[in-house]
Amino acid sequence: MVVFLIVPFLIISFMWKLFGNIKVKDITNRHVVIIGGSSGIGKSLAILAAKKNAHVTIIARNIDKLSEAITEIKENAINPTDQKINFVSVDVTNFEDVENNLCEIEETVGPIYMLVNCAGFAVCGELENFTVNQIKSLINVNLLGSIYPIKAIVPKFKERKEGIIVLTGSQVSLFGLYGYSVYSSCKFALRGLAESLYMELKPYNISVTLALPPDTDTPGFKEENKTKPIETLRISDMGDIFNPGDVANKIMRDALGGQFFSHIGFESFITTTLCKGMSPFTSFFQVIMESMIIGWIRLISSFYVHRFHKIVQLCYDEKKKQKKIKPNM
Ligand SMILES: NC(=O)c1ccc[n+]([C@@H]2O[C@H](COP(=O)([O-])OP(=O)(O)OC[C@H]3O[C@@H](n4cnc5c(N)ncnc54)[C@H](OP(=O)(O)O)[C@@H]3O)[C@@H](O)[C@H]2O)c1
Ligand SMILES: *[C@@H]1O[C@H](CO)[C@@H](O)[C@H](O)[C@H]1NC(C)=O
Ligand SMILES: *[C@@H]1O[C@H](CO)[C@@H](O)[C@H](O)[C@H]1NC(C)=O
Ligand SMILES: *[C@@H]1O[C@H](CO)[C@@H](O)[C@H](O)[C@H]1NC(C)=O
Repeated sequence: MVVFLIVPFLIISFMWKLFGNIKVKDITNRHVVIIGGSSGIGKSLAILAAKKNAHVTIIARNIDKLSEAITEIKENAINPTDQKINFVSVDVTNFEDVENNLCEIEETVGPIYMLVNCAGFAVCGELENFTVNQIKSLINVNLLGSIYPIKAIVPKFKERKEGIIVLTGSQVSLFGLYGYSVYSSCKFALRGLAESLYMELKPYNISVTLALPPDTDTPGFKEENKTKPIETLRISDMGDIFNPGDVANKIMRDALGGQFFSHIGFESFITTTLCKGMSPFTSFFQVIMESMIIGWIRLISSFYVHRFHKIVQLCYDEKKKQKKIKPNM
């Protein structure tokens, strides 16, 4: 069965290398802004941008974390005397603050060329266990926290007829899982946002990339892990955990290459391909290859879906035995 997946995967990767002919953009001396750049995947992206000779501004709330990250980013700059590496403390859920600060750093550092939206956090749990404030806060940071900075910067990008926008979704932008009702709603919404923006901004020479990271070993992931119900823990156990440096590398490569989706690892290749739907594409050849394997992937994915539901049922039965759930009638 696996042969049906691996063979087309190899063919696609090979042909992609041959005919892909992707033009990679250069960020040397360009201003790259990374929101959520003081920790985890965002920090790794900021370090990468510094290594690529860009001017880097990271944005987050906590000033101690920001200054610590700045030290690390500066150590990685290849041209420390010329590269401008700064931080700004902003809560991304406040539109006026976001707009004013983006305006200000354009004046002090230079026009923004690349905007990376990486602020976000996850809380897991059954929907009824969330407080209304928790729900609002998840939506504010994960969804509005991406809409606001993009809304603020798009007029400038359009005027300049260039720019790169990165949104950070998740694998749960593609499918829901036990414990992710609220977080996954926000991450699904980011996909709609990214697809619409891609279409709105393409004529203006502005690219949009939606990153779909799998579980990645970051401070944020450690916090998320503490909130996972047993069902979610058991389901997550089935996947690998990635290193933020590797994830950032792939996101940077895909964003500079103008790819719409950015995913890493075999499992995410499979899930992303399966869920491509009406999403934008850059190569018709790639669409042909994908259309040939999507049917097979759907079949194989059903084993995973079945397994996930089985895990949830087993946990339910265990709880019932421990009398944590009232028997029916
Ligand atoms: N790690 C994973 O397994 C994983 C998987 C899929 C997707 N993702 C997504 O990838 C992104 C980064 O995740 P991560 O694991 O690297 O997270 P992280 O280590 O917790 O870093 C999150 C960053 O966002 C900033 N931030 C949070 N709320 C903010 C706000 N209201 N205003 C401004 N900045 C804010 C944080 O700084 P302050 O707290 O100081 O503001 C920090 O710099 C998130 O969108 C997450 O949902 C992560
Ligand atoms: C979630 O809420 C239910 C009641 O709606 C409660 O029985 C259960 O213990 C709560 N779970 C957690 C982890 O707080
Ligand atoms: C599009 O933007 C790139 C930089 O991202 C630039 O090199 C190129 O000249 C622009 N093309 C047009 C047609 O403006
Ligand atoms: C996640 O938390 C569980 C317990 O709640 C623990 O057993 C597991 O090792 C943790 N995993 C990671 C990657 O931190």
